[in-house]
Amino acid sequence: MDSKFAFAFLLFYFLMSSHSVISQTSGKVNIGESLVTMDQNLSWLSPSKDFAFGFRQLNDNDDFFLLAIWYYKIPDGDIVCYAKGGNPAQRGSKVELTADRGLVLKDPQGTEIWQSNFGTGRVAYGVMNDTGNFVLVNINSESPALWESFSHPTDTLLPTQAMKIEGILSSRKSVTNFSQGRFQFRLLSDGNAVLNPINLPSNYTYDA
Ligand SMILES: *[C@@H]1O[C@H](CO)[C@@H](O)[C@H](O)[C@H]1NC(C)=O
Ligand SMILES: *[C@@H]1O[C@H](CO)[C@@H](O)[C@H](O)[C@H]1NC(C)=O
Ligand SMILES: *[C@@H]1O[C@H](CO)[C@@H](O)[C@H](O)[C@H]1NC(C)=O
Ligand SMILES: *[C@@H]1O[C@H](CO)[C@@H](O)[C@H](O)[C@H]1NC(C)=O
Repeated sequence: MDSKFAFAFLLFYFLMSSHSVISQTSGKVNIGESLVTMDQNLSWLSPSKDFAFGFRQLNDNDDFFLLAIWYYKIPDGDIVCYAKGGNPAQRGSKVELTADRGLVLKDPQGTEIWQSNFGTGRVAYGVMNDTGNFVLVNINSESPALWESFSHPTDTLLPTQAMKIEGILSSRKSVTNFSQGRFQFRLLSDGNAVLNPINLPSNYTYDA
């Protein structure tokens, strides 16, 4: 092969492949992009690949997937946030990023089973941030995020994630069952942070 041609080809190849690496890992999710659960843990990654947002299979070979955020680089990395009160979705479920309603989760029959509620506004795009926060960016850039996973903590707070007054972290049933468990960590409006058990299913809170 002519060496100039080979050099140009290699340069071209290098530019193309580095470009595709960058676009795959920008953390940005465009309107209309979707993930459908199949046999894999499909996800959108943060730029550093530390965090993934998507479907995580609960047990090997089973048909249930949690819409969640987890540590991606660590094998079996901990799930740090999950949607739908920890209720898993069936194989064939789909999550899509829409402009008017944000993230919309549908079951295999196409019935909507969860969405990221944010009132009014339009989403420009989504970002899986390196901090572990999945952010829906407002099309009106003067305003803050329309919705972010950091405002909906489940059982974990990540570094830089603030706990808001009247915020609740809730334990789960077990390692593989993400339904609400019997223990809570709450930041009360009087400024006290408390750990308390609750009664299920009434949610009555016992003394701290
Ligand atoms: C999905 O991830 C879980 C937890 O890391 C793992 O047990 C399971 O084997 C993975 N499933 C597939 C199909 O890769
Ligand atoms: C992502 O997190 C960084 C801090 O690590 C922050 O500066 C940036 O604004 C965040 N991006 C979005 C879209 O929230
Ligand atoms: C989790 O536990 C709850 C309450 O015990 C039960 O109703 C539910 O079916 C369990 N979910 C899974 C996926 O096993
Ligand atoms: C208890 O709290 C959970 C989680 O916030 C909620 O889904 C459920 O409806 C509550 N149950 C009752 C009886 O209020």
